[in-house]
Amino acid sequence: MTDIVPSQVDRANPFASFIRLDRAADFGPVSDWASDFDLAEPPYVTDPTVRWAEQRGRCPIAFTERRQRSWLPVLYDDIAAIAHDIEHFSSHDPIVVSPFDVPINDLLPVPPISSDPPVHTWARRLLLPAFGPSAVEAMSEVTRGLAEELIADHFSDGSGDAAADYARHIPVRVIAHMLGIPVEDEEMFTGWVVRTLQQGFQGLAFVGDALDAIMEMTVYFSERVAERRAMERGTRPRDLITMLIEAETDEPMSDQHLLGTCFLLLIAGIDTTWSAIGSSLWHLATHPDDQRRLRQDPSVLPMAVEEFLRVYSPVTMARIVTDDVEFKGCPMKKGDKVLMAFPAGNHDPAQFEDAERFVIDRARNRHFAFGSGIHRCLGSNLARMEIRVAVQTFLERVPPFELADPDAVTWTGGQVRGPRCVPIRPSA
Ligand code: HEM
Repeated sequence: MTDIVPSQVDRANPFASFIRLDRAADFGPVSDWASDFDLAEPPYVTDPTVRWAEQRGRCPIAFTERRQRSWLPVLYDDIAAIAHDIEHFSSHDPIVVSPFDVPINDLLPVPPISSDPPVHTWARRLLLPAFGPSAVEAMSEVTRGLAEELIADHFSDGSGDAAADYARHIPVRVIAHMLGIPVEDEEMFTGWVVRTLQQGFQGLAFVGDALDAIMEMTVYFSERVAERRAMERGTRPRDLITMLIEAETDEPMSDQHLLGTCFLLLIAGIDTTWSAIGSSLWHLATHPDDQRRLRQDPSVLPMAVEEFLRVYSPVTMARIVTDDVEFKGCPMKKGDKVLMAFPAGNHDPAQFEDAERFVIDRARNRHFAFGSGIHRCLGSNLARMEIRVAVQTFLERVPPFELADPDAVTWTGGQVRGPRCVPIRPSA
C-alpha cells in the first residue's frame, strides 16, 4: 500500500486502512488502449464507441496495469461467457476501479451484487417480489406524478436542463418511496451516490469524501433499521426496509448483510437510471426525426426504450479472476479484474445488425444493458418503467425541443456513464 496520505482522509474511518491511494493517482493520458486503457479517459467518457471499434479490430480483450491489473473484453460473446462462468469470475469486487486492497465483499458486502452463490441465491431471491412487474406497475403513477411536478417546476417555458432538473430527480425519489425514507432527503442520497460511485476514486481529492459518505450511509441506515425494529410487528411501515427486517431467509441475515442490501437498493438505481433517462432525452434533443416519430406514434416507445438502453447502456461492472485461467488466449491471473463492458457488447456488429445506428423501432434487440447471468439487474422492470414514464411524460408536457448549447453538455463515465448537463430549449 502507498504511503501517500492526503490530509482529506480521516484515518479514524474504519475503511481508511484498506485504501489504495495509488489507484486514485493521476496516471496521465493513455498511450495505447490495448495495453493501457482507462475508462475515465475523457474521450472514452464522451464517446466510447471509437475505442470499442478500434479495439474490436485489433485486440478484443485489452489489458492494463494502470491502477490495477484489469482486462477489458468488448465482444458480446466474450462478455456473456464471462458473466455466466461464475466459477472462474467472482462478483466479490464488482467495482470497476476499487479503492480498497481487499474485495469490497470482505469489507462492506452489498448483497446480492457483491455475492457469489450460495449467499447470492437467497439474497437475491428475497428481493425478487419487490421488483416484479406488479410491484413496479404500482409505482408508475407515483413516477408520473414526480415527472409532472418536475416539468411544472423547471420547464414551464420549454427550456431547462433535462439531466440536472429532470432525469437526476426521478429515480432517487422513486426508490426513496420504496425504501420508506424521506424523499425530502434526496440531495443527501444523491450526494452519497456522487461521492462514492461517481467522484469517489477518480482522484486523491475525493477519496476522503467517499469514505465519509460510506460512514454516513452506514449510520443513516442503522438508525432506520433500529427505528423499525423498535416497533411492533404489524405496525411497521410497509416498505423495503421492513421487508428486509422481517424476511425469512435460508441463513440468518446479519446486520451487515441487511445494511449492505439497503445501501445497494438505494444506490444501484439512482445514477444508472438517471443516466439512462438523461441520455434518452439527449438523444431526442439531438435527433429531431426520432423525437417527431415518438410524438406522432407513442406505440413505438417500448422499442425506443430498448434501443436507448442498447445504444447508451450506462453500466460497466467487474469480476475478479478466482484462479489463474486462460480465456481466449489471455493469461488471466488470480485477483485480476475483468471489466464487464456490457455497453461495448451492445455495439458488437456480430450481434446487432447495423450496430452503430440508433434504430428507434429495432425489432430484434437482445441487448444486455442489464447484464447477463445470475446477477442480471434486479431492478430492470423498475428502470424500464421509469425510463418509459419519464420520456413519455416529457414528450406530452414539453413542446418539441433541441439542445440550447451543445458545448454545455457534460458526461460522466467509468462504472456508470451518462450526461449530467443537457440544456434544452424549444426547437427553432
Ligand atoms: C437503466 C438503469 C439500470 C441499469 C442499466 C442497470 C444495470 C445493471 C447491471 C448491468 C447489473 C448486473 C451487475 C453484474 O453483472 O455484476 C445490475 C444489477 C443490479 N441492479 Fe441494476 N441497473 C439499472 C437500474 C436498477 C434499479 C432501478 C435498481 C433498483 C434498486 C437496480 C438494482 C440492481 C441490483 C440489486 C442488482 C444486483 C443483482 C444481483 O446481483 O443479483 N438496478 N444492474
